Amino acid sequence: MNYKTQIFDDSESVARGVANLIEAKAQQHAQSGKALSIAVSGGSTPKALFRLMASEEYSTGIPWETIRLYWVDERCVAPDHAESNFGMTYDALLHYSFIPIENIFRMKGEDIPDIEATRYAELLHHNLPAHEGIPVFDLILLGMGNDGHTASIFPDQLELLTSLKSVEVATHPVSGQKRITLTGPVINAAEQVVFMITGSDKADIVATIVGQSEEAKKFPASHVHDKTGNTEFYLDKAAACKL
Ligand code: 6PG
Repeated sequence: MNYKTQIFDDSESVARGVANLIEAKAQQHAQSGKALSIAVSGGSTPKALFRLMASEEYSTGIPWETIRLYWVDERCVAPDHAESNFGMTYDALLHYSFIPIENIFRMKGEDIPDIEATRYAELLHHNLPAHEGIPVFDLILLGMGNDGHTASIFPDQLELLTSLKSVEVATHPVSGQKRITLTGPVINAAEQVVFMITGSDKADIVATIVGQSEEAKKFPASHVHDKTGNTEFYLDKAAACKL
């Protein structure tokens, strides 16, 4: 199983590459009358993508009514909290976009974590097609922390990669913050997974994971392989400099 990589000059062009991918997939789905179910990550990298998608440049190219928006993970905070992934997405994209509110499915970080994880899993099983009982997204956008975590699956919680549940409660290893996260089987069941990774601080881990060395196994991101072998790394030159 090989990873595909696309290397861009900078983070803005990584964002444009992903925006163009989403636009093309949404148009393709709209032509066949299908929705496009996307799960997005939080953190700082996707901000540029969301801002670009909210711009005039993509206002007419993306069939917004086709998109069904979900989250890969969420911090257990209120949606208006500075650390909320939904809050970041709202400020950068949703406040300006034309995605119908009924097509936006946020994880409720303000609710009791275990109850919300169960609710969100039930939502996914209701809304999405399933393969061998696992909900299937059309596209999952992942980031990667500089410890090799992805979603909210951290190196000290590798069991979440093989959970029998679709959504679990995770704990940030440093802050202790509770998170709601998709688990490994749901991520790997997706039709396509795209990593958006920028910055030289991630270059060593990117090279280790893409090179699929034995050392890579300690990094959760190395355990992501979507079911069709399409997993792609959208990298800027800084993150790709050790490939
Ligand atoms: C989160 C994200 C997380 C993120 C990585 C990379 O809730 O923080 O889902 O998995 O993708 O931590 O974050 P940056 O994009 O900020 O480097």
